[in-house]
Amino acid sequence: MSTIKITFDDQEYETEPGLTVIQAADRVGVFIPRFCYLEKLSPLGGCRMCLVALKGVPKLQTACTTPARDGMEIVTRSGEIHQARKAMLEFQLAQHPLDCFYCDKATECDLQDLTYLFADIEHRYDFPPHKRGTVYDNPLIERNLERCVHCERCIRVCSEIQGAHAVVATKRGRMTEMREVPGGGECQFCGHCIDVCPVGANLDRLFTYGGRPFQMEKGDSICPYCGCGCTVSLNMREEKLVRVRPGVDTGVNNGSLCARGRFGWGFVHDPERLTRPLIRKEGKFVEAGWDETLLYVATRFEKIIKEKGPEVIGGLGSVRSTDEANYLFQRFLRTVIGSNHIDSSARLNYAAVLAGWLGTKEQAREATFEEVRKARRVLVIGADPLETNPILGLAVKAMQNRGGTLWIADSRVTLTTRLANRHLPILPGAEVPLILALARSGLEEPALSGFSGSDVSARTGLTSKVLDEIATFLGEDAEKTVILAGRGVSQAPFGAAAVSLLLRLAAVRGISYLFALDKNNERGSCEMGVLPDRLPGLAPLSEKARFEKVWGDRIPDRPGYSAYEMLQAARERKLSALYIMGENPLVDFPDTKFVEEALGSLDFLVVQDLFLTRTASMADVVLPAAAFAEKSGSFTNLEGRVQFFPSLVPVAEGVRADARILVELSRKMGKGFALKNIAEVREEIDSLVPMNGTRRMLQTGGPEIPLPGTEMQWGAGEDPDYPSLLMLTSSLYRNGTLSNRAAGLKKAQEKAHLLMNEQDASLLKIGEGDKVMLSSKQGEIQVGVRLSHEIPAGTLQMPEGFSDANPKSLLSHALDPVSRTPMARFVRVKIRKI
Ligand code: SF4
Ligand code: SF4
Ligand code: SF4
Ligand code: FES
Repeated sequence: MSTIKITFDDQEYETEPGLTVIQAADRVGVFIPRFCYLEKLSPLGGCRMCLVALKGVPKLQTACTTPARDGMEIVTRSGEIHQARKAMLEFQLAQHPLDCFYCDKATECDLQDLTYLFADIEHRYDFPPHKRGTVYDNPLIERNLERCVHCERCIRVCSEIQGAHAVVATKRGRMTEMREVPGGGECQFCGHCIDVCPVGANLDRLFTYGGRPFQMEKGDSICPYCGCGCTVSLNMREEKLVRVRPGVDTGVNNGSLCARGRFGWGFVHDPERLTRPLIRKEGKFVEAGWDETLLYVATRFEKIIKEKGPEVIGGLGSVRSTDEANYLFQRFLRTVIGSNHIDSSARLNYAAVLAGWLGTKEQAREATFEEVRKARRVLVIGADPLETNPILGLAVKAMQNRGGTLWIADSRVTLTTRLANRHLPILPGAEVPLILALARSGLEEPALSGFSGSDVSARTGLTSKVLDEIATFLGEDAEKTVILAGRGVSQAPFGAAAVSLLLRLAAVRGISYLFALDKNNERGSCEMGVLPDRLPGLAPLSEKARFEKVWGDRIPDRPGYSAYEMLQAARERKLSALYIMGENPLVDFPDTKFVEEALGSLDFLVVQDLFLTRTASMADVVLPAAAFAEKSGSFTNLEGRVQFFPSLVPVAEGVRADARILVELSRKMGKGFALKNIAEVREEIDSLVPMNGTRRMLQTGGPEIPLPGTEMQWGAGEDPDYPSLLMLTSSLYRNGTLSNRAAGLKKAQEKAHLLMNEQDASLLKIGEGDKVMLSSKQGEIQVGVRLSHEIPAGTLQMPEGFSDANPKSLLSHALDPVSRTPMARFVRVKIRKI
């Protein structure tokens, strides 16, 4: 049956089958009050506000638990129903503190709305009020126990959607209290329990007394942190951001956010934001006007070009900035400067994926978030979506909730491995050998014939039986199977080759795939041509004539340097100047010492950023840039979805958006772009890179990727001087420089910590909380220790992204020969208690 007929209050409606009465009523626009019901949660049937009468059934029924059937006749309004609902409301109000004057939920509160609607509620109960107070155990969420209406939405959302199981009901009956699991540590600060609470019992502590809805402006934007590209609703009061919530059930995130999206916005109004351009004079920064500064930058670039040629200048575009700014950045470098030395920190991840994708003829299906949610099987290789891309992680959880199965191959213990139905503990760095093993059994590829079964088994650490089981797992129900890969693959030696094999395997089997991208615009920056060998739309340089015609200028013929090649060239004095837009390589790139020496060797360094970052503090000129909320444009998420957002907060005084800076600089250099606003930039992009729905039509085809031979070594090897293996992990509470400026995220977790095997620690007389010095061949850092029985002996785990201890400074930067991406997943270290 494709539709059913159902009658509400003598009016007949048609709706889809398989709904409850309340769902059917919502679909056809009939109002039924509710507290505990929420479409995305399992029905509870607890509050009884949704009582309705069904023809032929003697007692009133809860609409949220009663299935709607064809021909059903339902009464939603009658004296009896009104009395019954009113009695439930009266009971709730008998307990409720009525402190709406200063409750942050006032005017957005279901209890207020329903009380107003029922108007004639009596106050007959006189049982003594149960004083329960307010709990502040959670650094970001206030729990006001007296306002709770016991709907259990918070418990259900936390367990069913977030999978955190952090909230429980304690005590019984009207004494029931919703409390966090004692000891804390379960909450992942997604804030979903705040959104679903129908009253002011769960509140955002960053917002306390932030404003009434009528005092606030609201607008949808895109989260600036990871590649999921979640829709966020920004709430502003007096032109300042005061609260972030999910766009209501819109975008890829369906009304969910992670801690970063919800609580990570503090950097926008950080008092340490740069507000004036800075020019280094006699070793010190001096504030200057925009005109003077841009003229100075233009003059210095022109002088370098005149003396040494344009090929000694390079640029790093930004995985944080908009598609439009990245487009203008590469156009500036290519036509105004005359150099193809263009790259970004996407080199650390997505550029390797792209190299593999471009080098693969067979086109596999790229999955969407929705396809992940509806999949039957997901195999994760070298990724931790719950930390890097939490909303993608929730899509995987939703897949499990629907009965799907998650397998994960990872040498680390992560949030995602804990969730998996099966954790395949491969050897550190064995993601590529695992893919070789799967390709060996699934593809007819002569180049892989040299690898024997025992060989791949020894290299992966998995028995041939387990490898066969993985192949079988991927072979069944291929249409509903997704391979989800991450930096464990892209940052490995021969990562691009592994990506290519994975895509070929997926194409042959009919499996779809998706890559976890931890920065919000990794994909967009690459698609906009912030690459040394590709133009916008990934067009090869051989097609430059088409772009030259639109840009009215020549594009250099030869591909430029990639990021680390630029740094190496700087060290060798072959590169004299670097323009960095919104990147902080001194913190985000592996091998800090190498990066520092490279930047220190330049004659001229320009950095455009929100803060005086470590990289900016080495610059000759610093240009203060606008934050995401202050500018308009688009970000391209990890699925390839291009999402536009408006400027919602006035640009901070003295600050300019990246795109405007680039246009003005191009004019100062006498080759001004004739573009007046973002809409015109957009138009130009669309004329060169057409859209197909929400995605760009990209060019495919690239050099075939050489496959590794059997002589290839993987993994960290042994080094008696550095006996422990440190594996890098991601953190839910950090994602680059901006996250270290967000008070909310610092409250969630202030400092980095090293996870260490308990027995290893006891041998070295190291205890929980002790501080240790970690040393590698590249550098050393100090960090506090947390003991874990889950971490394998001889290994350590540490999250990247925290400003107090940066494990990337311990890494080397050995580059993959094809993608020129540095290996950045693990390093051999020694550990000493201090
Ligand atoms: S913030 Fe998220 S994880 Fe924490 S208690 Fe609320 S729903 Fe659960
Ligand atoms: S705290 Fe809010 S969401 Fe949780 S049970 Fe109470 S009223 Fe419902
Ligand atoms: S999952 Fe990513 S895009 Fe979504 S809220 Fe979190 S950090 Fe932002
Ligand atoms: S909404 Fe139906 S019982 Fe609560």
